[in-house]
Amino acid sequence: MWRVGVSFSVIILAAGRGTRMHSGKPKVLQLLAGKPLLHHVLNTVQQLDPAQTLVVCGYKGELLQEACKDFKHLDWVWQTEQHGTGHAVQTAYPSLTANQRVLVLCGDVPLVSKSSLEQLLAQTPEHAVGILTAVLDNPAGLGRIIRNQQQQIISIVEEKDATPDELNINEINTGIYVLPYAQLASWLGNLKPNNQQQEYYLTDIIKLAVADGVDVVGHKSNSAQEITGINSQQQLATLEREVQLSAAINLMAQGVKLYDPNRIDIRGNIQVGKDVVIDVNAILEGDVVIGDEVYIGPNVIIKNSTLESGVKIYANSVIDTASIGSDCEVGPFARIRPGTNLKANCKIGNFVETKNSAIGPNSKINHLSYIGDAEIGSHVNIGAGVITCNYDGAAKHKTIIEDEVFIGSNCELIAPVTIGKGATLGAGTTLMKDAPAGALTLTKKIITSIVAWQRPVKHKEEL
Ligand code: UD1
Ligand code: CA
Repeated sequence: MWRVGVSFSVIILAAGRGTRMHSGKPKVLQLLAGKPLLHHVLNTVQQLDPAQTLVVCGYKGELLQEACKDFKHLDWVWQTEQHGTGHAVQTAYPSLTANQRVLVLCGDVPLVSKSSLEQLLAQTPEHAVGILTAVLDNPAGLGRIIRNQQQQIISIVEEKDATPDELNINEINTGIYVLPYAQLASWLGNLKPNNQQQEYYLTDIIKLAVADGVDVVGHKSNSAQEITGINSQQQLATLEREVQLSAAINLMAQGVKLYDPNRIDIRGNIQVGKDVVIDVNAILEGDVVIGDEVYIGPNVIIKNSTLESGVKIYANSVIDTASIGSDCEVGPFARIRPGTNLKANCKIGNFVETKNSAIGPNSKINHLSYIGDAEIGSHVNIGAGVITCNYDGAAKHKTIIEDEVFIGSNCELIAPVTIGKGATLGAGTTLMKDAPAGALTLTKKIITSIVAWQRPVKHKEEL
């Protein structure tokens, strides 16, 4: 554990549009592992417990504020025109409420770790400048760290402004710094947009700090992943695959059998039991809890749900905000929608949709059904094609199906309606009133056969 020393404020730069993404969305709202880039940074910052967190927003800033409304203690600063990273910090500076060090982060560098930031804070003397740097095989596109013969950092040069010699330098600027509050004001005031992009570069404060005799200390990160900045869709996709592979390796380390660690996507927090098997192309989103000996088939999506032990989810099923009791079998091709609560040992088969329904233990809905707003008891058997008609065009109504009911194929249950314990419904029943317990209820239909009937025949010329 590093001591971060005196308290500090954070400025997160997030006003840029992200032109190189070619998207209508602000760059920092692009998703990595299911979360906006900016959320990754904010999650890490909140663990550091700074005195103040300022987020600089500009391009579609109202979307950023909406997307981050669940984060507490954020102060927003508007940089309505974006004239560079230096201009962003100039804009934020007057909103700093305390005279203390400033940790500057970029909203497009999502994976910087808590421990690297703690080290940067702890190892930078109180009145010095600290820069997180990294040595990369391929530094293309990034600002280069310029050192003098004594290996002291003297400036940062952007790729677009670099000489051929400077382009050969492999040590890069991650865009993350610790800066002393008092001197920062004068450095910011002296920035000039004398560069290729005619922007106010924050990186130019390094030269100014050196000229003032302030120590500039570099801290090298040894993780290329944590310092990756996202400027293009390709960089985002590359980082996504790296993050996903790490998540898959982490699951395997907990004993999960993955048929292919390159074909699983985890976009949330996953808890797993023992002997879990996951086939290819599963997507796990939000908070997912998976019990012992669960099997998840190919192309399954599971979001914010709990799967108790022994559950089997077969191919191409979608499970959203549901609770699946032990030993249930679901799918293939099932859609379990929010509010579904399956008790132990249920079977939900192909092309069955359930929503906001509790289904008791050992009940079966095996084929082609829609079950919405229902309360179903135990040992109920629902035949193929049964539909709860839960919506009258204005309001939703409840269907109650008591224990041991048997519903024949193709019934319509017009809610509100109750089917008593042990009742049987004949195939094709349109149930408009309650069905009594134990009895057979059916819609009588008259069946007529017309013997003297001719099936139309095609004329010769049509054949
Ligand atoms: C910046 C650094 C570069 C470093 C790289 C690391 C400068 C001049 N360059 O380059 O040395 O290697 O980060 O990833 O600082 N932003 C604003 N307002 C603006 C401009 C940018 O808030 O007016 C925000 C962006 O939204 C982004 C961050 O600042 O989150 C960095 O800006 P970006 O344009 O991506 O800088 P880089 O070219 O990557
Ligand atoms: Ca960037």
